Amino acid sequence: MNRITRRSFLRQAAIGTTALGLAPRSWSAAAGANGDLRVAVVGFGGRGGSHIGAFSKMAGVRLVGLCDCDQKILGSAVKSLAGKGITVKTYTDYRKLLEDREVDVISCATPNHWHSLNVVWACQAGKDVYIEKPISHNVWEGRKAVEAARKYNRIVQAGTQSRSSRTGIAAAVEWVRAGNLGKIKVSRGLCYKRRDTIGKVDGPQPIPPEIDYDLWCGPALKLPLMRKRLHYDWHWVWNTGNGDLGNQGIHEMDVARWFLGVAELSPRILAVGGRLGYVDDGQTYNTMVIYHDYPGAPLIFEVRGLPDKKGSKNMDKYRGAGIGIVIECEGGHVTVPSYTAAAAYDKDGKEIKKWSGAEDHYANFIKAVRSRKITDLYADVLEGHLSSALCHTGNISCRLGAAKSPGEIKEALRADPAMAEAYGRMVEHLAANEVDVAKDKLRLGVPLRMDPKTETFLGNPDASAMLARDYRAPFVVPEKV
Ligand SMILES: NC(=O)c1ccc[n+]([C@@H]2O[C@H](COP(=O)([O-])OP(=O)(O)OC[C@H]3O[C@@H](n4cnc5c(N)ncnc54)[C@H](O)[C@@H]3O)[C@@H](O)[C@H]2O)c1
Repeated sequence: MNRITRRSFLRQAAIGTTALGLAPRSWSAAAGANGDLRVAVVGFGGRGGSHIGAFSKMAGVRLVGLCDCDQKILGSAVKSLAGKGITVKTYTDYRKLLEDREVDVISCATPNHWHSLNVVWACQAGKDVYIEKPISHNVWEGRKAVEAARKYNRIVQAGTQSRSSRTGIAAAVEWVRAGNLGKIKVSRGLCYKRRDTIGKVDGPQPIPPEIDYDLWCGPALKLPLMRKRLHYDWHWVWNTGNGDLGNQGIHEMDVARWFLGVAELSPRILAVGGRLGYVDDGQTYNTMVIYHDYPGAPLIFEVRGLPDKKGSKNMDKYRGAGIGIVIECEGGHVTVPSYTAAAAYDKDGKEIKKWSGAEDHYANFIKAVRSRKITDLYADVLEGHLSSALCHTGNISCRLGAAKSPGEIKEALRADPAMAEAYGRMVEHLAANEVDVAKDKLRLGVPLRMDPKTETFLGNPDASAMLARDYRAPFVVPEKV
C-alpha cells in the first residue's frame, strides 16, 4: 500500500478488477470476417497521424475507428480519410471504443499520462495494443501495463521504433554484446534536442470548446490550463508529461539499456538538472545528467534543450551523436546517431564497422498480433516499461533534490568520475549559453537506491510516493489488473 494512497486504493477496490466490466475475448473471436485485423487509432494530434498512415495502408489490416477527445482533430482526420475512400467509426470517449467488439487492435498516441491506462483497459477488453513511448507516466503503472498484457494474453508493442532497426542498431547491439570491442565502460544516451521556451501566461487559459477536457485529463489532475497551448506542451508539466527525458529521451534510454543487456531497473540513481536559459510555464528539466549505476557499467544519460551556444541554431554533439547513443568500450566505441544506423570505431577513432537498416515497427506489431508470440515483438511492453521507468527514476531523483552551488555539486559527484565528467561538460554547455550556474543554480538530485526485483525504492518514502500517482476516478489504473 506504500506506493499508492489509501484513498486511491479504496477507489480501485470499489471499481473492481475489470474496470470496464468487459470480459476479455479469445483471439478466435477477434479478427474480422475476412481475416482482416480491425484497428482503431486513439489520439492523433501529432504522432497518431503516423499510426493512421501506417494502418490505413497495411495489407491485411483495416482502419475501422478513430478516437480523439478533440472534435476538431477528430473531424479533420475523418475528412482526410474520407478523401482516400476510407470510412471509420468515430469516438471521443475511449471507453466507448473499447466496448466495440468489431475492433481488434488499439493503437494509441495519446499524451503520456494516459498510456498505461490505455493499455490496461484495452487488455481487459481483449484487444491488442500499440502504445506510444513512454509506455507510462510513472514506474508503478508501467508495471501494471505489463501485468495486464500477460494476464489477458495480449500483444502489446511499445512505440520505441529503434528496436525495429534490425540490420542497423540490433546488429550493432549483438556485435558489442559478443565482446568485439571488449567490455563496455559506459553506455551513454544523448538527447541534445532544441526545446524553446513555451512562453508565460498570467492566468488560467480557456479550454478550446472542441476539447472534452475531462477526458483529456483522464487519470491526471484536472487543473486549470496554465500555459498557452494545451496540446503537445503537456510534455513540460509534471501532471501530464515527463520532460524531454521521457519524450525524445526514452528512445535513446531504451537503446542505451539494450546495449548493456540489462532487463531490470538500476539499483542506484542520481541526477543533476534544471530548467535553465529561460523562464516560462514549463516545469520539467531542459538540462540534465542522469546516472544509472548498473553493476556491469553505468548508463549515463544527458539532456540538453539549449543550443551549442547562445543565439545559435546548432546543437552540441558528442562523438558524432546529438540525439543518439555512444557505447564506450575498452577497445573503442560505437556511435548510434539515428534510429536506424550505428558505426564502430577503434581506439584511434578510425571507423571499423557500420550498420544500417530498419523494418516497419507497426508491421512488426501486426505480425506478432497474428502469430500470438510475444517473442515476435521487437519492443514488447516489458522493454518499454523498463526504459520508461529509467526516465521516471531519473526525474524523481532530480525533483527531490535542491538547488546547489557548483562547488557543492562537484563535491557530491566526486565518487563517480564518469558522472562528474558528464556534469563538467554540462556546465560548460550552460556557460556557452550564458547561464551562470553560480546564480541560476542546478538541482543536485537525491541519490536513490532501488530494489530492481520489486521496483521499489529503499529507505526513501518521499521517492516511493512518486512511483505512482493518485488517480482521478474513474480513470484509475487498478492495483489488481
Ligand atoms: N514514437 C515516436 O517517434 C513519437 C513521436 C512523437 C510523439 N510520440 C508520442 O506520442 C504521444 C502523443 O504525442 P503528440 O506529440 O502527438 O501529442 P499531441 O498532444 O499533439 O496529441 C495527442 C492527441 O491525443 C488526444 N487525446 C488526449 N486525451 C485523449 C483521450 N482520452 N482519448 C482520445 N484522445 C485523446 C489529444 O486530443 C491529441 O489530439 C506522446 O506520448 C509522445 O511521446 C512518439
